[in-house]
Amino acid sequence: MHKEQVIANENMYVLQTYVRPDIVFTHGKGPYLYDTDGNEYLDFNAGIAVTALGHADPDWAEAVAQQAQKYGHVSNLYHSEPQATLARKLIENSFADRVYFCNSGAEANEAAIKFARKYAYERDGQSGRHKIISLTKGFHGRTMGALATTYKKAYKTPFQPLMSGVVFAEFNNLASVREAIDEETCAIIVEPIQGEGGINPSTKEFLLGLRRLCDECGLLLIFDEVQCGLGRTGYLWAHEMYGVNPDIMSLAKPLAGGLPIGATLVTQKIADAIKPGDHGSTFGANPLACAAANVVFDKVSKPDFLAQIRANSEHMNQRLQEALPQEKVVEIRGAGYMIGIELTMPVSNIVKRCVDSGVLLISAGEKTVRLIPPLIVSTDDIDRAVDVLASAVKTA
Ligand SMILES: Cc1ncc(COP(=O)(O)O)c(C=O)c1O
Repeated sequence: MHKEQVIANENMYVLQTYVRPDIVFTHGKGPYLYDTDGNEYLDFNAGIAVTALGHADPDWAEAVAQQAQKYGHVSNLYHSEPQATLARKLIENSFADRVYFCNSGAEANEAAIKFARKYAYERDGQSGRHKIISLTKGFHGRTMGALATTYKKAYKTPFQPLMSGVVFAEFNNLASVREAIDEETCAIIVEPIQGEGGINPSTKEFLLGLRRLCDECGLLLIFDEVQCGLGRTGYLWAHEMYGVNPDIMSLAKPLAGGLPIGATLVTQKIADAIKPGDHGSTFGANPLACAAANVVFDKVSKPDFLAQIRANSEHMNQRLQEALPQEKVVEIRGAGYMIGIELTMPVSNIVKRCVDSGVLLISAGEKTVRLIPPLIVSTDDIDRAVDVLASAVKTA
């Protein structure tokens, strides 16, 4: 199909919830994508922090193809080897004792909310605590429960009423969280490094303080690592950088390297409160997605792989400091391959100019450019992205 036909069909038949540039990709390889006109793009967006291994990783493609020749779906009514193997890997390499699989980040957070409420219900009875504290600038997804815990009003206002029982406190302000807690609170949900809200890292004191507050008040601590988890920070889990463990953690985006998956990890005391029938998903732990995730996890969890991200990230930061015009930079934030560059001006035109120059980038908020490349990029790729970005910022 020709490029014009693809764009015409999408414009005519697809619900217009996204604005897209006039580019149609045909294929990718590693950190590169190619379009119908033969143009090459360096993908520093990674499908919004998803394609951890880049495009068409041969081991990933082979694992999916092999599983497709066995079975693509059996449902959760039956045991399945790809799910069992992935569960073992996630649990053996995390704070958690059990994992629930679903299909997206929003679903993983919906499950986290339900599990937190069920834990309180089993512990305290019918009058159990139900309120969730969420943080300013937090983003947790677009379904009604996850959306209720998302901060941005524009995403929520037309869809009221959302799930009730969500209270917002100020990010990185422990006193504000303490004030928001009452006898009905059951959990606090936070991204250790906020993604959509502008690449805002939690302070160490904040996450440590949240852990202490939760322990003192009998609350559960939920870390949403949908964007910052699984190697993106140069550590397997973002919370490793802080030395703070949650009770529940949600994962999604990079877990299956491009196939839909979500996961909610919990400790044993929460698992004890969940019974058959409490929650479920027809497609959750889909065998193709789990086969892909097993490959992603094996590669991404290797200490050398993670150390390379940390080293390359230092290089990227150094290059950004050198190349960007300092008078236009407010702050460079983040960790590993999750870097936000806040500028003194709106970034939408800068992002567009980079895309036109062959580097795919996105923003995080009005004035922040977000760098979330595949976890396999080289220092040469980083240099190219930084040079293109710097030139776009200089002429903006
Ligand atoms: C931190 C975080 N949580 C949840 C979500 C929602 O994930 P999904 O779009 O897969 O539902 C996102 C998506 O950007 C996210 O960044």
